[in-house]
Amino acid sequence: MADKLTYPQIQDYLTNLVPVRPAEVQEMEAYAHDHQFPIIGPVAGQMCYQIARMIGARRIFELGSGYGYSTAWFAKAVQENGGGEVHHVVWDQKLSQLARQHLDQLGYTHLIHYHVAEAVTTLRQTTGLFDLIFNDIDKDGYPASLPVIAAKLRPGGVLIIDNMLWGGDIFDETNQSDDTKGVREFTRLITTDPGWVTTLVPIRDGLIVAFKK
Ligand SMILES: C[S@@+](CC[C@H](N)C(=O)[O-])C[C@H]1O[C@@H](n2cnc3c(N)ncnc32)[C@H](O)[C@@H]1O
Repeated sequence: MADKLTYPQIQDYLTNLVPVRPAEVQEMEAYAHDHQFPIIGPVAGQMCYQIARMIGARRIFELGSGYGYSTAWFAKAVQENGGGEVHHVVWDQKLSQLARQHLDQLGYTHLIHYHVAEAVTTLRQTTGLFDLIFNDIDKDGYPASLPVIAAKLRPGGVLIIDNMLWGGDIFDETNQSDDTKGVREFTRLITTDPGWVTTLVPIRDGLIVAFKK
């Protein structure tokens, strides 16, 4: 998907700059490749990890966690930040179970809170504020997630949201699918809200990184 938008040469270059991952993480990458499962991949993963380290994140909430690949990057950061919690939320029981196997193998069992449920509802129901929230749910759900995220992120916290280039579909005016409209609308909402400082980083399928003032 992202290959349509960015030079493969640059993507390959960026990927090769990411340090070698543990065998378990490489296995998760191979699974995504073989099953066409949309994980964030190593370049975006490394950036998520770096941001979480930079802000010293100890409480992280993920919406739409899949089988735990993005979770592994956040858990690594939280562990190195001195410990805390990473909330893994997905509505597929099988994916949650698979995530548990991988994250146990990686030694992150004590950090992860698993929820098999709708992600925005779960965030709304979870107490306390978060240092970092990562959003990767179905794209038609993005606009409605923003007020919930804003309420659950601490001032100075960071929101990272994936697929903000949506394979280029956002540029095609004839594309009026609910997902495409969701990505466009979320981008409009957050970039025009004075409560956020926002940049769209065009790695892979586009990540918005937003700082809550
Ligand atoms: C793009 S994948 C997640 C990939 C993961 N973030 C990674 O990079 O490893 C999104 C997953 O979240 C699930 N999902 C989508 N919308 C959701 C929602 N509103 N609540 C809970 N799970 C959701 C999908 O079924 C899918 O398994």
